[in-house]
Amino acid sequence: MKITKVVIAKKKVEEYAGELLVAFIARDGAGELVGDGLLKPLLPSLQGFKEFSAKKEQYFLIYPGVSPIKGLPPCKRLLLLGLGDIAAMSGPSEIFELLRTAGGLIAGQCKRNLVTTVGLNIPELEGLDDDLVGEYVAEGILLGAYQFLKYQKKDDDVYPGLKKIEFISHDHGNRSKIGKGIDRGVNSALAACAARDMANEPGNCWTPGHFADAAKKIAKELKLKCTILEKSDMTRLAMGGILAVNKGSEEAPKMVILEYNRQKNVDTLLLVGKGLTFDSGGISLKPAQGMMDMKYDMCGGAAVLAAMGAIARERLGVNVVAIVPSTDNMAGGGAVKPGDVITHYGGITSEIENTDAEGRLILADAMAYGIEKYQPACVIDLATLTGAVIIALGHHYSGLLSNNDQLAARLVAAGKMCGEPLWRLPLGEMYAKQIKSKVADIKNTGGKPAGSITAAEYLHKFVGEVPWAHLDIAGTAWDFTEKSYIPGGPSGIGVRTLIELLRSWENGILTKDNS
Ligand code: BES
Ligand code: MN
Ligand code: ZN
Repeated sequence: MKITKVVIAKKKVEEYAGELLVAFIARDGAGELVGDGLLKPLLPSLQGFKEFSAKKEQYFLIYPGVSPIKGLPPCKRLLLLGLGDIAAMSGPSEIFELLRTAGGLIAGQCKRNLVTTVGLNIPELEGLDDDLVGEYVAEGILLGAYQFLKYQKKDDDVYPGLKKIEFISHDHGNRSKIGKGIDRGVNSALAACAARDMANEPGNCWTPGHFADAAKKIAKELKLKCTILEKSDMTRLAMGGILAVNKGSEEAPKMVILEYNRQKNVDTLLLVGKGLTFDSGGISLKPAQGMMDMKYDMCGGAAVLAAMGAIARERLGVNVVAIVPSTDNMAGGGAVKPGDVITHYGGITSEIENTDAEGRLILADAMAYGIEKYQPACVIDLATLTGAVIIALGHHYSGLLSNNDQLAARLVAAGKMCGEPLWRLPLGEMYAKQIKSKVADIKNTGGKPAGSITAAEYLHKFVGEVPWAHLDIAGTAWDFTEKSYIPGGPSGIGVRTLIELLRSWENGILTKDNS
């Protein structure tokens, strides 16, 4: 990932002479355009253009050098960006999403016009502090500017990436506050982009060993504790789930553990991410069409590791343990077979009905182990777990399943704030019944009906009463809802939800009873 410099420049916007200057224009309830002082002379002449009425996501590119207009700054390009009627918006989450989307559009224009430095004047929005405006615009630009070019040869017409974002502020008073907001936006966007980078790596270049190396690197940079459980450790600990999934593979499994220990007397949260580096289905082989996408079956693990980096960087006030059980799911000669019975960490036995339902097997070991060892206040797992969640929710919401209303509500709120919406699905004994086995304690599939729920009920067996939430991101980890700041490919979903959740975490109030 190339580094983008983000600065607050002490410049006068009227004198900005760079490659691209962005000016935001809102509209009031009556449809009148409302813009910066700089734009005042321009607003009347814009009124006649139907293609630009400052509705949100509308934009208009002007080249002041080509057709000089009196009073405009000496920049090469001026991008007028509509924000719509802010006063009519439903609340902060809608405005934050608007700003991120505006950021994504700016990034899109930079890419299209091969612009590498962009300047912008933070718009003054009524009722919203400048630091928040800076935060979400910066986040949107960086998320939108993301590209993955590692395996392509460099070409002149390939966009080299955004080198610099200049927030132009002539007013010295609140610069440090704005700076803090921008830092938050940069931190969360870069974390999401780090997760996208891991996901974009092909299966032959991103193995469990790469997950281990990535965790070690984060640990070194941020002084975290990193432990890698090797296959021999898994054997000693009797982690029959991950070992079974790994049986058909040439690649050694890893259980990657990162610990961020902030202080005593605050909650410890356990994050678990599915790190399946390629899911062929195993002996219950997947059809060829679309199988390539199964290199993304590690997006939960990537999200958890990337979020951990951001959490430690911001020194958030909780203790966090992240575990990424990682292996691929292959059909080698030794592979686990339908009908086999395995024993999970902790002793629960499971009949393998379908070797393609492997995510729950590796997560179960990781969650049971993590709960026993770290006694967390709650557990959150992220996994591309079921195709069924795409049938239920499409590519617009991640599925949320939880045994705890408080935790579920906090996650729903966090997801809403950061544009990664969650929709809760129920759990229940009647669903748990579907995974009863005749030969073992449970079986790893529950039939077609409610596939996402029965998968979650499988995990539920390993958390019991501990407050737990499961995010099924199979529909959103890639092919996520089209947005200007989600440029195709892996979305980095979950990273910003976790960061948002932990930024506003209140210690000690999560209760076990579900009320
Ligand atoms: N990794 C897949 C789930 C998946 C499917 C993610 C499509 C993203 C897109 C998971 O391991 C899987 O194969 N699940 C099976 C479970 C079934 C066999 C009970 C599925 O959803 O078909
Ligand atoms: Mn599978
Ligand atoms: Zn899978």
